[in-house]
Amino acid sequence: MTKILVTGSNGQLGSEIKELSSIFPEFEFIFTDVAELDITSPKALSDFITGKKIKYLINCAAYTNVDQAEKDEETARLINAIAVKNLAEVSKLHEITPIHISTDYVFSGEGFKPYQENETIAPQGVYGNTKFEGEEFLRTICLKHIIIRTSWLYSPFGKNFLKTMINLGKDKDQLGVIVDQVGTPTYAHDLASCIIQIIKKIHADKDFNDYGTYHYSNEGVCSWFDFASEIQIEAKNDCKINTIESKDFKCLAKRPHYSVLNKSKIKHIFGLDIPHWRGRISHCINRINS
Ligand SMILES: NC(=O)c1ccc[n+]([C@@H]2O[C@H](COP(=O)([O-])OP(=O)(O)OC[C@H]3O[C@@H](n4cnc5c(N)ncnc54)[C@H](OP(=O)(O)O)[C@@H]3O)[C@@H](O)[C@H]2O)c1
Repeated sequence: MTKILVTGSNGQLGSEIKELSSIFPEFEFIFTDVAELDITSPKALSDFITGKKIKYLINCAAYTNVDQAEKDEETARLINAIAVKNLAEVSKLHEITPIHISTDYVFSGEGFKPYQENETIAPQGVYGNTKFEGEEFLRTICLKHIIIRTSWLYSPFGKNFLKTMINLGKDKDQLGVIVDQVGTPTYAHDLASCIIQIIKKIHADKDFNDYGTYHYSNEGVCSWFDFASEIQIEAKNDCKINTIESKDFKCLAKRPHYSVLNKSKIKHIFGLDIPHWRGRISHCINRINS
């Protein structure tokens, strides 16, 4: 059976892939997180992979705390960049196709129309910088790769904006949420499904040659304020959301003001029909409440 190794699988995206895996019996998934497979160790990777005949690797592991990364650049670089170099090298050696996840934070956020894959990179902080370094290692070491940049991930798992807003909205009458950062939420369940569709397509098409970088989020555009307002409605919380500006919300890392991703390429190459962000919140909340 075709084997797919998933690294960092206890996080949001990895957990969603786990949930979906049973409906793809044609694949054998091997789920690992840092306790079973620390991707910062080339020896651990080599020992784990050698002899297993793995065909695909989905790297969900990352250092995702954007503010903390400003204080701990070394660890962020180790996980987001050096470890991706390790994955690229082991993938090349064992003829594995890696699917790696990156971020909208590689862009400056000064644009005004959805970012295409080949647009100028200008990360605003350590997280975006180290994620881009990871992309570059993969591009140069392992030519047959897929990089998917995504944005604003949420799911029933781990910590994320949607869960924070639901919990705060239960206790508070009012909340201030940033209105001058615009992007698109991504339901990790939809991204997980997209990744498996991509693997199915590559696997089925012996002549597949569209390796490279892609963008994926849900459809549509919103601010964090819009997202938070919709979450309160769907969660049936009686909490008023007020607008605040980035300048009045102090945090360590600078974030892009505009990071909407253009998804034409992924839709065209893989024939995807991507759901709008607004319709996906209730699906996630129903799962949280079930
Ligand atoms: N979250 C977002 O809003 C967002 C936005 C854009 C792009 N992305 C990208 O999307 C991908 C998935 O994000 P996510 O939200 O699912 O991340 P997540 O929930 O933070 O999960 C990352 C997982 O990787 C694990 N990990 C950390 N260091 C590792 C190591 N050395 N070896 C193996 N596993 C390790 C983490 O374990 P610990 O928890 O123990 O550290 C965690 O289980 C990442 O590449 C991220 O950069 C995320």
